[in-house]
Amino acid sequence: MQQIKLDISKVFGFIPEKQIFNQAKAAETANMTLEDGTGKGNDFLGWLHLPSSITETMLDEIQQTADDLRARCEIVVIIGIGGSYLGAKAVIEAISGSFDALNNKKPLIVYAGHQIGEDYLYELSEFLDGKSFGIINISKSGTTTEPALAFRLLKKQLENAVGLAEAKKRIVAITDKERGALRTLANQEGYKTFVIPDDVGGRFSVLTPVGLLPIAVSGINIRQLMSGAVAMEKATGKDIPFSENLAAIYAVVRNELYKQGKKIEILANFNPKLHYVAEWWKQLYGESEGKENKGIFTAAVDFTTDLHSMGQWIQEGERSIFETVLSVAQSRYTVEVPEDDSDLDGLNYLAGKRVDYVNKMAELGTQQAHIDGGVPNIRIEIPELNECYLGQLLYFFERACGISGYLLGVNPFDQPGVEAYKRNMFALLKKPGYA
Ligand code: PA5
Repeated sequence: MQQIKLDISKVFGFIPEKQIFNQAKAAETANMTLEDGTGKGNDFLGWLHLPSSITETMLDEIQQTADDLRARCEIVVIIGIGGSYLGAKAVIEAISGSFDALNNKKPLIVYAGHQIGEDYLYELSEFLDGKSFGIINISKSGTTTEPALAFRLLKKQLENAVGLAEAKKRIVAITDKERGALRTLANQEGYKTFVIPDDVGGRFSVLTPVGLLPIAVSGINIRQLMSGAVAMEKATGKDIPFSENLAAIYAVVRNELYKQGKKIEILANFNPKLHYVAEWWKQLYGESEGKENKGIFTAAVDFTTDLHSMGQWIQEGERSIFETVLSVAQSRYTVEVPEDDSDLDGLNYLAGKRVDYVNKMAELGTQQAHIDGGVPNIRIEIPELNECYLGQLLYFFERACGISGYLLGVNPFDQPGVEAYKRNMFALLKKPGYA
């Protein structure tokens, strides 16, 4: 199995290579601290060895539940917010065909509970009317307002449509093993449930049933995804020296850039299927590091689309950014530019060339332009967009996030700031117990 590659050579013009390697010991110590469980937030390290410790029995159970939902439903609604849906959506969007939904591929995966848009819920309910659908309801706390609201509405709609007994077969709950309203409700209704381990936070939960069940329902091979994650778990372990440990190197480079005033990291992709990987990554790093008045602000762009919008800012705006580019080496299909007799569009100079070649030249040209414009460039190369390399990529980012948070000196595994809006909203809504 090949491995995703990390190229940091295009930051050496901004930070000397020596400065990066001077941090080797600190990064190795941070990685050791993670594995030894002696650092901040050490009660949330269950994600570290998820790939190597997930059992065949668990994978079978997830697959069977997924197959059952696939057999019963033409649409499956994934209810969850933040870490409870982004990982699944990232993998599903990256692997699925761009037009699967329009092409009537079954089951169609749709999402709810990731915002409180009334129009969205109305339109979703109208869309589901008369169709055969099921629900995967995901909430670790089991008390989050957005998914709870969506579930209350869709549960009623499903029960009205197919009756109580069939509805119970089409609802799966993924939540805490004993706490929270969703656990109580699932136990009472007798839903099939999966447990989110106590020691795995939402944004690190993609390789638990939280991510794996929806991914399997969409028809994606979860065993291959896990095999990639296992390989990356080994490749980034505490015994791997800094110079060979991609996660440790990425963590150091972004922290050194941050110290130098590069406060914003832009994750750029040249393949729109990676859009939601970037959304997942934004949460992973933003929520892990943005605390104690510090932390890199995480942003994302889709290229070349956003070169025609944010490209100007990136090229010439405030020089407080660096770029991490996700580059897919091999596209899945081949499309060549056809010869055209009239050549009115002037594209015959590309005739016979692959579209991916044009994209790669755009990538190279962008990289050089941005470096010339003062934007350090980190490049992550993914051999191809498949389950295995995505598994590697997800785990790589998780491990690097843990190391990076420790290098920054914060607890990368809590999210105290997320509560502030909830307290205000509950008080405004007059929720019992909130003045
Ligand atoms: O990463 C996190 O902790 C958050 O994004 C949560 O996943 C999100 O708030 C949803 O929480 P819950 O799964 O408890 O409903």
